[in-house]
Amino acid sequence: MQQEAKKPRKISTYNMKGGLGKSTLTGNLAHALALLGYKTLFIECDMQRNASSILKERPEHSLTDVLTEKVQLSKAIHEARENYFIVQADRNLDEAANYIVMKGWKAYTGFKRAVQELTAYDFILFDYSPSWSAVTEAALLASDELLVPCELEPYSIDGLIEMFHKLREKLDEHKLEIAGITPTKVDFSSTMTHQYLQQLKDTFKDKVTPIIRQDKQFPRSQAYRQTIFEFNVKSKAAQDITELAKFLIKGGDTNG
Ligand SMILES: Nc1ncnc2c1ncn2[C@@H]1O[C@H](COP(=O)(O)OP(=O)(O)OP(=O)(O)O)[C@@H](O)[C@H]1O
Ligand SMILES: [Mg+2]
Repeated sequence: MQQEAKKPRKISTYNMKGGLGKSTLTGNLAHALALLGYKTLFIECDMQRNASSILKERPEHSLTDVLTEKVQLSKAIHEARENYFIVQADRNLDEAANYIVMKGWKAYTGFKRAVQELTAYDFILFDYSPSWSAVTEAALLASDELLVPCELEPYSIDGLIEMFHKLREKLDEHKLEIAGITPTKVDFSSTMTHQYLQQLKDTFKDKVTPIIRQDKQFPRSQAYRQTIFEFNVKSKAAQDITELAKFLIKGGDTNG
């Protein structure tokens, strides 16, 4: 398979801004990759648990149990759909953050190693809450690439540049490759949208991925605890997520 060279690809969907559609994008992207034949694990680093609400039953172990060293990472992996696996967050994720702070570098390196050992997966995706914590830090340090959802609005480019700067400061010398910058909730009925998109492409060039348009099918699918591919595979939402998945797959194809 194309991913062999870098397997598993460990991609964090991250932006410090809230409500951009990060969890919607990441959960559906995980299913898209799974449907395209890539074994995908989604690690949920957000106690809101929006993305993992598609699970039909609550897993016995959560990310908190892993980060507090109660269980091994493999024990917290739950099959959500064929080829699509989830490590769910729980309401006690703060406890995990405190534990990591107390344990220091051992906790960070321990989690990173545990993630590295999951070589059976093609992709590991991480989703975050917009607020910073030791859990955010541990998961970012365990990943190699960054997928950055953003809204097309005034000053969004300045905001992204500032965010990259802050991340570099916080993560010290850990370098995260930019897998892509993804405009989300794109609404072409708004007059400035084309201009903002062009500005983004002028600045970040081929890092700008296929866009995710605004589509009510996303919130509707979530109301039924389904991915967009289960709810409406013909929707523009499903098409956009698939295009994004293909972009990421191509980006990881080191054989050209
Ligand atoms: N492309 C889209 N079109 C329409 N609605 C969307 C789209 N993406 C996300 N939404 C809706 O926007 C809301 C916020 O989405 P989501 O929870 O994915 O954002 P988030 O960035 O993860 O938020 P948080 O920062 O709180 O984690 C949800 O109701 C979701 O259904
Ligand atoms: Mg979210």
